[in-house]
Amino acid sequence: MTNEPALRLAKTLCDLTFAERVFFANSGAEANEAAFKLARRYAWEHYGPEKHEIISFKNSFHGRTLFTVSVGGQPKYLEGFEPAPPGGIHHAEFNNLDSVKALISKEKTCAVVVEPVQGEGGVMPADPEFLQGLRDLCNEHNALLVFDEVQSGVGRTGYLYAYEMYDVTPDILSSAKGLGGGFPPVAAMLTTAKVAASLGVGTHGSTYGGNALACAVAQKVIDTVSQPEILKGVKARSEKLRKGMMDIGERYGVFSEVRGAGLLLGCVLTEQWQGKAKDFLNAGLDEGVMVLVAGANVVRLAPSLIIPETDIEEALERFEAAVKKLTAK
Ligand SMILES: Cc1ncc(COP(=O)(O)O)c(C=O)c1O
Repeated sequence: MTNEPALRLAKTLCDLTFAERVFFANSGAEANEAAFKLARRYAWEHYGPEKHEIISFKNSFHGRTLFTVSVGGQPKYLEGFEPAPPGGIHHAEFNNLDSVKALISKEKTCAVVVEPVQGEGGVMPADPEFLQGLRDLCNEHNALLVFDEVQSGVGRTGYLYAYEMYDVTPDILSSAKGLGGGFPPVAAMLTTAKVAASLGVGTHGSTYGGNALACAVAQKVIDTVSQPEILKGVKARSEKLRKGMMDIGERYGVFSEVRGAGLLLGCVLTEQWQGKAKDFLNAGLDEGVMVLVAGANVVRLAPSLIIPETDIEEALERFEAAVKKLTAK
């Protein structure tokens, strides 16, 4: 049994992306858990049990279940919860194809898992050649390419999903966060019909995944965010915010770079301010503007996709006042 909003949302997601099948869950971690299980099960069915290894990347973040913290590339999230699930989870260097070549094998690797723009790990976009290289390596080694778009998806980069920006299509994609527009817990795992066949009825499931309320809200979100003028608006707002932050960075010598895509931006602290990202967050709060951090060296910005231009201007003014006070100390 299913429900009409779930069917409608699945059809919309399939119409708008590479996907032919959708599995609904309640959080990013659950969508990734489903993705990793599916990758293993697909390899098990097609090639046998030896092909179960997963390659992911240092500094990546995929959620907080035991499997997802183990695939994630930040050991602090696994600390005290070991042992990690056994059976070969390897962490390569992000944006370094040679480090993947050294780990991948036709006999053992079932999947390569990557965030097209590493979020928690410092708002680090993948190089286009790197993602294309991963696609080619996966094809060569019969491994599935999994994109974790929990943070980069649903319009965040100015594209409905970031894989479109790179023109590199994964076999499995996970989506959450913005999918519910901030209200209901909702997540989705998108894939092809061929791959989805390995996760038949009874192999995986969720009580609330695909509930009618969450799907109805997500439908409205996707219908809105996928409109070309909304996505174009994200790119325009991004330029304004990026330029404003870079100007502040230069004026006060605090940022060496503003990187990211669309409205997922990371301001990288200069040598002198290394390790002090939280000071910027706190200074911002004192002036009534909320920023986020991504690690100790990056101030992260991820505002609403429809933030009014005047709010961006006010935020920049307030943030500048915060930086002025912080640097005068
Ligand atoms: C890239 C990425 N994957 C997965 C997750 C986990 O999502 P959730 O907190 O909904 O489980 C996050 C959350 O920050 C994320 O940024």
